[in-house]
Amino acid sequence: MSPTNVSVPESKNVVVVTGAGGGMGLATVQALAATGHLVLVDLTDDRLDRAKRVADEAQASSVALRCDVTSAADVARLAETVKAAGSFGAIVHTAGVSPQMAGGRRVLEVDLVGTARVIDALGPLVRQGTSGVCIGSIAGYASVGPELNSQLDDPLAPSFLDNVEAALGSGFPGTTGYVLAKRGVMRLCERLALSWGAQGGRLVSISPGLIDTEMGRLELENEELMPAMIDATPVKRPGMLLPGRPEDVAALAAYLCSDEGSFISGCDIRVDGGLVGAGRAMGFTG
Ligand SMILES: NC(=O)c1ccc[n+]([C@@H]2O[C@H](COP(=O)([O-])OP(=O)(O)OC[C@H]3O[C@@H](n4cnc5c(N)ncnc54)[C@H](O)[C@@H]3O)[C@@H](O)[C@H]2O)c1
Repeated sequence: MSPTNVSVPESKNVVVVTGAGGGMGLATVQALAATGHLVLVDLTDDRLDRAKRVADEAQASSVALRCDVTSAADVARLAETVKAAGSFGAIVHTAGVSPQMAGGRRVLEVDLVGTARVIDALGPLVRQGTSGVCIGSIAGYASVGPELNSQLDDPLAPSFLDNVEAALGSGFPGTTGYVLAKRGVMRLCERLALSWGAQGGRLVSISPGLIDTEMGRLELENEELMPAMIDATPVKRPGMLLPGRPEDVAALAAYLCSDEGSFISGCDIRVDGGLVGAGRAMGFTG
């Protein structure tokens, strides 16, 4: 699992999948299996074993790396691993936690600071043709005041979490942390598409709607608005607990990492079965 164990010819196209053992991560590993040498990133060995099994079944070349995306040292090791393995082709960053998994500060730390750490650390390795896809959420479409938006644009500041808390005027729950984090991820991809573009790369965010993964089911069990949101989603998939499949997200991520997606950068794309648009049409959101 250490970078020194990786022996791959310099020419390899290196493709990173974070949260590789999660719902969207596993679907992404499968979707990108044929595109290069996969660096599978997750928090725990059992998650990594899951991802490795999927990669092996798909006959993909891969290496597993235990890495907490909130740890600067772990993320630096990820960048070293990618550099040692070959040429940085793509990253699909799915690692994240939801409001039911942690309090506001931790959600913001994993989902936004973690994303910023990973994208920042890999920035110097971006070359002609590199693609980056960060998974946001439709939660990022909720309204956020302009003063908070500007705080969200500096997620690597040492006092970032305190700054956000001060701007909010109090501590905040996981739901608020999630909205802010996912808005911050969208803004980060818009912003950093400039520097990635100058090096020949692209950076895009995807905002999934209600997706049937462990995380999605946890929200379904605990968030009382979920049934109404499922009902309001224009795309109906009778028989499914949640209307979105992780493969829906992975298919778009794979497209965005392909040559076909090569004019798409600096934007957010929703994979939500129409839920955000329906919310606007029904007057729930601006
Ligand atoms: N499932 C949904 O309905 C839904 C909707 C919108 C957005 N999302 C977003 O999609 C992404 C993937 O979600 P999922 O549904 O596949 O969830 P999941 O819980 O199945 O997978 C998330 C993965 O991230 C890993 N992870 C968590 N914290 C980490 C850390 N600090 N460092 C490294 N890895 C870490 C977990 O171990 C897990 O394997 C998340 O960013 C989530 O916020 C999910």
